[in-house]
Amino acid sequence: MWLGFRGKIAVAIFAVSAAALLLAATLLAFSLSDQTYRRIEQSLISEARLVADMMATDERDIAPEAIETEADRIGRTLPARVTFIAADGTVVGDSMVKPSDLTSLENHAARPEVLEAKARGVGVSRRYSQTIQTDMLYVAVPVNHPRLTVVRLALPLTEVQQQVAAVRDMTLIALAAAMVGALALAWLASALLGRRLRVVADAARQYASGDLSRRLRDYEPDELGTVARVLDDTVHELARRAVELAEDRARMDAILFGMVEGVIVVNDRGRVQLVNRAAQEMLGLESEGVGGHYLEAVRHPGVAALLTEALAGREPARLDLSPARTPGRHLVARAAPVSAPSATGAVLVLHDITDLRRADQVRRDFVANVSHELRTPLTAIRGYVEALADDAPNPEDRARFLEVIARHAARMERLVKDLLRLAALDARQELVERAPCPVHGLLAGTVSDLATMIEARHQTVDISVDPSVATIRTDAAKLQDALRNLVENAVNYSPEGRRIRLDARPSDGRVEITVSDEGPGLPEADLERVFERFYRVDKARSRESGGTGLGLSIVKHLVSLLGGRVWTANRPEGGAVFTISLPRD
Ligand SMILES: Nc1ncnc2c1ncn2[C@@H]1O[C@H](COP(=O)(O)OP(=O)(O)OP(=O)(O)O)[C@@H](O)[C@H]1O
Ligand SMILES: [Mg+2]
Repeated sequence: MWLGFRGKIAVAIFAVSAAALLLAATLLAFSLSDQTYRRIEQSLISEARLVADMMATDERDIAPEAIETEADRIGRTLPARVTFIAADGTVVGDSMVKPSDLTSLENHAARPEVLEAKARGVGVSRRYSQTIQTDMLYVAVPVNHPRLTVVRLALPLTEVQQQVAAVRDMTLIALAAAMVGALALAWLASALLGRRLRVVADAARQYASGDLSRRLRDYEPDELGTVARVLDDTVHELARRAVELAEDRARMDAILFGMVEGVIVVNDRGRVQLVNRAAQEMLGLESEGVGGHYLEAVRHPGVAALLTEALAGREPARLDLSPARTPGRHLVARAAPVSAPSATGAVLVLHDITDLRRADQVRRDFVANVSHELRTPLTAIRGYVEALADDAPNPEDRARFLEVIARHAARMERLVKDLLRLAALDARQELVERAPCPVHGLLAGTVSDLATMIEARHQTVDISVDPSVATIRTDAAKLQDALRNLVENAVNYSPEGRRIRLDARPSDGRVEITVSDEGPGLPEADLERVFERFYRVDKARSRESGGTGLGLSIVKHLVSLLGGRVWTANRPEGGAVFTISLPRD
């Protein structure tokens, strides 16, 4: 049978108390009945002595009949059978035997109580009486009498047993009552203990279900209270550590997933433990593949080989790769074995060097372009200088040669100036000095700077400024430099006699200044590229006009320095439009 803790405690308490009560009751019953026997025996002895005394004081030589009558008289007074025994053992008087039957009685000299009384002064015996056919308690004492030797009193044992049984019954009733009391106490004690245990069990169950929040409990200062408090404290501590771990984990995740570098962690059995987002993107993986084998998850033989090496405990060389799944990307992969006490395996880190490569390429192109751009005028200058030195040309040729030399020198000067400007802008060496400036004045100033050029090409420039953007806060000199480059291009690349427009209007809280022309516009594919250094749509034409291909690149730098953006588009009705978007202040 299944018993709860409370039931077990109740049974235990009850069993212990019942055993103790039973033992106590048994001992009590024994000792009480013993005492009762003794008391009856003692009082019988006392009565026997009293009778002996009485008979002794009666010094008369009592006739046999008188003795017999005396026995009957005393027998009526006492609740016992009285027997007078003569020295030879004959019974001379008995309260329960008729005088006529006395002679037929057996000689009592050999009765144990009689022998004992003679020997030690008092004799006691319990046995079956043939005379009255029942168990009897016999008590005999000697008597100082000429015709009698022993006085014997006898009580039927059934009487004694009745008294003992009454004592035993009382004991049994007391035992039964005590048992009921013990049962009630056991029940009460187990209920109190059981309730407290249930609280602990409920708390344990709550913790086991994953709810680690602490309930405010008032534990008692005993062992059970200590168990409950320790359990509570332990679980609370565990919960705190779990939170700490989760926070650590979240921090780690934030770091790993926010990292620009790709990270892949593999355990010593080759199972993927972590793939961050960057690594996923770089290798073009659809899923993280966490838990799977790295050979399946990585899907790149070179990267997998690096991990294999690292897992074997070797420090593999770096690998440059351009995964087929992410074309155009250049990556560097490095793997290293991990042998921390808490974890072993390998870590792979991926760096995206696409931008570095591109920057490297740009730098190389730039150097090649600069060399090329410088060599052309230098070659021309050298040629003409040699021609001048070798044979003395006529004055016209000489003047022409010198003019060509001067033009190329001026071109070189412009190139070097533009390059220096670009370098300064690149290094952010130019300071921005903002001040409120009138937009119309700025645009008109730009146009008047280029008036000679515009007139020479018979072009007209219209300026329109929305009144809401009459003034902006910016570095006027830099903005004017940028605008001059744009207007210069418009003048240069659109045919003679065409119209050029300069507009300033608000847009999304910013100011947009556009320079539009009615020229050929730009090939769609070149719209972005025109801002690259040395990029020219038509190299021959541009060079003819003295262009170096750095103008728009300088514009882009200037505008970004002013916190703005520049882009170009083709107008539907033909012609290019360059837009500069700037903050108002
Ligand atoms: N308004 C325009 N219409 C047509 N093409 C243009 C226009 N503006 C620029 N381009 C093209 O973009 C190229 C780059 O212009 P950019 O101003 O950077 O160089 P450039 O004018 O050739 O030389 P630089 O301005 O340094 O003297 C030009 O060579 C030209 O082909
Ligand atoms: Mg230009």
